[in-house]
Amino acid sequence: MAHFNTKAIHAGQIPDKETGAVIPPIYQTSTFAQEAPNEPFGSAQGRHNGFDYTRADNPNYRNLEEAIAALEQGKFATVFSSGVGASLGVLSSLKAGDHIVAGQDLYGGTYRLFTQWGEKFGLSFTFFDATDPKNLEKSVRPESRLVWLETPTNPLLRLTDIQAMTTIAKSKKLLVVVDNTFATPFCQRPLDSGVDLVLHSTTKYIGGHSDVIGGAVITREKDLKEKLDFARKALGVNPSPFDCWLMQRGVKTLGLRMERHLVNALTVANFLEKHPKVKKVHYPGLESHPQHSLARRQMTGFGGVVSAEFQFSIEKTKKLISSFGLFRLAESLGGVESLVSHPATMTHASIPAAERARAGLSDSLVRFSVGIEDSEDLLADLEEALSHF
Ligand SMILES: Cc1ncc(COP(=O)(O)O)c(C=O)c1O
Repeated sequence: MAHFNTKAIHAGQIPDKETGAVIPPIYQTSTFAQEAPNEPFGSAQGRHNGFDYTRADNPNYRNLEEAIAALEQGKFATVFSSGVGASLGVLSSLKAGDHIVAGQDLYGGTYRLFTQWGEKFGLSFTFFDATDPKNLEKSVRPESRLVWLETPTNPLLRLTDIQAMTTIAKSKKLLVVVDNTFATPFCQRPLDSGVDLVLHSTTKYIGGHSDVIGGAVITREKDLKEKLDFARKALGVNPSPFDCWLMQRGVKTLGLRMERHLVNALTVANFLEKHPKVKKVHYPGLESHPQHSLARRQMTGFGGVVSAEFQFSIEKTKKLISSFGLFRLAESLGGVESLVSHPATMTHASIPAAERARAGLSDSLVRFSVGIEDSEDLLADLEEALSHF
């Protein structure tokens, strides 16, 4: 079987049959001609036929899905308009009355989707500390259907033991979804541990260049793939063909980019850990991370995001993160350029302050998405900004 970079470059990249174009074209069309009413071109559902309307399917979706599924060791993938759109796709396979057990420090937008949308439509949620698999048992109810995990978490970089959690979930007949956005398939492949669904905000490392918004869900089960495709069509959470084409271009360098992200992130984490103005650094690749041994067992790399708590008030913390030169103050992560953000007032502002405090998300926490620039320049930027505080 081909290795990671070979799959990233070749999966879903069959030259165009009509012209021989090595790079498959952008099928920028909303609709497809039919041979007879409700009979799309071609009899089989192959790569180049079986399409009727782009909200339902498009060749650029299928090409990207093939590549992402191959990297995650899955059989199928469904691409969506965004990571949140992908999460909505997963939730829509449930029904009113169903209960979801979810790790407690999720991405703020996922938490918002659950509590401000899901609850309105009859779903209920219990948030639990997913750093210990035993906590799952205590949160399961007779109406539980799904376990939702994010590992490493955003922004505290806490880990969940995927294998142990999946074993418990399966004994209770629950589906398991892992948001693998932070780790990427380069560092972690949850389907190999028996997880049913892997979710990505492809906006992040998979796209890799901060120029598209997208999402994807990967599985090995055909019936789950059919439900996801139905959700995309029925809810209208489809991406654009051009965005999929751009993301496929990003996927080809995912392995190369990740190699550099990992080296730079560890360099930044080590620098911050030694800095006198830093209280605590969160990075699974550091020996000081409380779950470092789990990280070594479960991951093949520790990711490109580093979070640090400073010895500063919230006001001083906000001033610091506005004063970097290379680390640009912006939402998001996973692009080639380094970004910095303040979770308490940005990505996680939709989580109530009390809930944030309970989850250990302090007001002086700063999240660094470490890019692939030269690490000497990144360290110089940090050093210079911190010297003024
Ligand atoms: C871990 C994680 N999951 C999901 C999302 C949502 O993705 P999107 O912004 O593409 O909708 C994000 C966005 O930051 C994220 O960090």
